[in-house]
Amino acid sequence: MTKQTVVTDSPAEAAEFLNRGGLVAFPTETVYGLGADVFNHGSVGGIFTAKGRPSDNPLIVHLRSPEQIGEVASGLNAHAEALIGRFFPGPLTVVLSKNRSVPEIVSAGLPTVGVRCPSHPVAAEFLKHCRHPVAAPSANLSGRPSPTDWKAVFHDLGGRIDCLLRGEPSTIGLESTIVDCTVDPPLLLRSGAIGLELLREVVPELQVATSCKPGEAPKSPGMKYRHYSPEASVVLVEAPPHAIPTAPPSAWIGLSGPPEGVFRSMVCRSPEEYARILFGFFRACDAEGIGTIWCELPPEEGIGRAIRDRLFKAAGK
Ligand code: TXA
Ligand code: MG
Repeated sequence: MTKQTVVTDSPAEAAEFLNRGGLVAFPTETVYGLGADVFNHGSVGGIFTAKGRPSDNPLIVHLRSPEQIGEVASGLNAHAEALIGRFFPGPLTVVLSKNRSVPEIVSAGLPTVGVRCPSHPVAAEFLKHCRHPVAAPSANLSGRPSPTDWKAVFHDLGGRIDCLLRGEPSTIGLESTIVDCTVDPPLLLRSGAIGLELLREVVPELQVATSCKPGEAPKSPGMKYRHYSPEASVVLVEAPPHAIPTAPPSAWIGLSGPPEGVFRSMVCRSPEEYARILFGFFRACDAEGIGTIWCELPPEEGIGRAIRDRLFKAAGK
């Protein structure tokens, strides 16, 4: 059944939809999220239907401030407190022990819950008007690149959700860094704008989760799915080739280049700019019928680690 998706600029109006059990997409500094009231089992179920998301992939719970953590999680240890103290609000998700009040559908049956407190002013205002914390994955159809502007959300989910809170394009452009604080030492599950070097200033013993072997349970269920994928095939290179074949039409994105023969190209001035525009570039290439997207791997430091991770996933590696 097709829904009428109301597009609004008002955080208060968007929150009303959510408080009445609706699905609401909203901007954050990382990517746009698709939210439902964390305690409303039926609404949270609707997120999985709207996105076509596998039910064993848990959702991140969004909070208006760290004071709300107690509504969904308990037993904060010193590592969690240090990370929250330093990086909330901001592009960090910490995995904590889940309170029993949080429905299993949110955590996909795990005893843990990921929480995040966005720094984006429109998100903060929206969350202030929401009665409860908000469970929200990225607001894309499952398997597509995460949306970094409201038009990408509308393209994927228009007619499937109740409301879209319109804001500026996301300034970071890649999903949050995820750290599991229920294990000792804590584990980096997903790279993001808060890089490994910065995290280790706060938790020097932090370890990086290795990708799981076939048959092994993934540390973060989302890690096992093909993600962030454009329809075009993605080719990764450490440096630009001199020229690439002109058919099928190809595109280039990287910190240097472009090679000769590309139909569309984007040379980014910094890793931060690369992160901000990557998913939008993938979507623009698909809209133009690009066959192959050539991507230059950035150095593996700071946000570069997160860009490399998303590029490997987009290439199906
Ligand atoms: O920046 C972000 O994190 C965005 C915005 C909307 O906040 N959200 C986002 O959500 O990227 P999503 O659902 O696309 O990715 C959430 C990731 C998945 O890989 C999921 O497996 C992992 O977080 N995750 C969620 N809860 C978890 C838990 N309790 N333990 C381990 N991993 C968890
Ligand atoms: Mg996602």
